[in-house]
Amino acid sequence: MQRPEHELIRQSWRVVSRSPLEHGTVLFARLFDLEPDLLPLFQYNCRQFSSVEDCLSSPEFLDHIRKVMLVIDAAVTNVEDLSSLEEYLAGLGKKHRVVGVKLSSFSTVGESLLYMLEKCLGPAFTPAMRAAWSQLYGAVVQAMSRGWDNE
Ligand code: HEM
Repeated sequence: MQRPEHELIRQSWRVVSRSPLEHGTVLFARLFDLEPDLLPLFQYNCRQFSSVEDCLSSPEFLDHIRKVMLVIDAAVTNVEDLSSLEEYLAGLGKKHRVVGVKLSSFSTVGESLLYMLEKCLGPAFTPAMRAAWSQLYGAVVQAMSRGWDNE
């Protein structure tokens, strides 16, 4: 990725990371709208959530939102070279495969991420920013997808 694109990513993430939990909640609410079948994959103490609202207000799920935002934050910090995160992301992909996530669902996560950025930034979210984020997210998913490739 070229440098001006890195700057667009950093600039937009600075705004989001002022309130990661709030924006992460927008991301996941959108994700459950687009793919409601993902809800049952979140179980804590073997208990399924009875509704999206129930899930979005549970402390364990809010922790998952924080974890997701931290991974994105690490990707933004390392946007120039994701290689230091590759091992970690492959392991993270594998953990998600084990809990029953299909690789294709990560495309829906990507759509939800772009939706959240648009909601958060409004007209400041330019087509160039969208393209830069799609590229970064694509690289993260590619690294995570190694967790589906091999045992
Ligand atoms: C399809 C959407 C997703 C589903 C259904 C899902 C589900 C889960 C579940 C069930 C866990 C284990 C329980 C927990 O720690 O809360 C987990 C852990 C985790 N997830 Fe996700 N997740 C999704 C997307 C993501 C994304 C996009 C990221 C970051 C890019 C992410 C980062 C993490 C992290 C860091 C952990 C903790 C892993 C560990 O314990 O080492 N998740 N996820």
